[in-house]
Amino acid sequence: MATDTVLPPGAAADWTIPQDWDSYTAQEHAVWDQLFARQAAMLPDRVVPDFMEGLEVLRMTRPGIPHFDELNERLMRATGWQVVAVTGLVPDEIFFDHLANRRFVAGRFIRTPEQIDYLQEPDIFHDVFGHVPLLIHPVFADYMQAYGEGGLRAARYGAIELLARLYWYTVEFGLIRSPTGLKLYGAGIVSSYGESVFALDHPSPHRIALDLERVMLTEYRIDDYQQNYFVIDSFEDLLRQTRDADFGPLYDRLRGHSPIPVGLLRPGDRVLHAGTQTYALGKAAAARRIPQTVHHKESHA
Ligand code: PHE
Ligand code: CO
Repeated sequence: MATDTVLPPGAAADWTIPQDWDSYTAQEHAVWDQLFARQAAMLPDRVVPDFMEGLEVLRMTRPGIPHFDELNERLMRATGWQVVAVTGLVPDEIFFDHLANRRFVAGRFIRTPEQIDYLQEPDIFHDVFGHVPLLIHPVFADYMQAYGEGGLRAARYGAIELLARLYWYTVEFGLIRSPTGLKLYGAGIVSSYGESVFALDHPSPHRIALDLERVMLTEYRIDDYQQNYFVIDSFEDLLRQTRDADFGPLYDRLRGHSPIPVGLLRPGDRVLHAGTQTYALGKAAAARRIPQTVHHKESHA
């Protein structure tokens, strides 16, 4: 999510930079178009319908890397959110402060053609295609703002690590129930071709009903597909459980607990699908056989 470094040259005090849309090359626009076409074709039956609606409402279906000024006009009209450009990761409190003020920070750079399937750092495709469409959903929009406010508060409690796991397992890798089965809404999934299939269809990962304490204690992986996904009933329910609850006592209680490793089920889990974990176990076994081989995949693609 964020890391502490020094303010990049040319950045404002809030770490934002101009998007400088005119300087994108034809090749960079073509990379966006290629990624967009692939995801737009496979997502409609998999993603929560509001996401596809967001692509339309925000006119992200037009070719090329979106121009933030145009995007922001429509986004502002829908829910009062804005997208602002940054060079890369920003310090936690800067990130939270932007969210608390309904500004979503997005990288301005895009991956190269060689990185179509693999990328460690979040680029504009992940940040804008993955995160922005759902910001037209009024309740999800409120959740994102509340999360930012909660982040500023968690910083004062020394509990950022606990709250960051909630972001990971909702905003980045969340699944949601629907009348026609589970759907995707997490940006880390919907911006990744491979994980958009894996998260819903593969027998390997656990799919567990979201429980705040459980999520806050659960480790996550940034180097490969998730070993567990957490499922919400609705955005309304997510908002109610988070914004309207005082996390102070929860942080105090969880502070001393050791984290739960990925891939474990625990007594009390409301398990929707007990994963076989075969995908993760297979990767681990292969890595032991060939120790010098690095098995990597995007964490944010
Ligand atoms: N209500 C939480 C608190 O007391 C803040 C929060 C809201 C956290 C929404 C996450 C999401 O700190
Ligand atoms: Co993200």
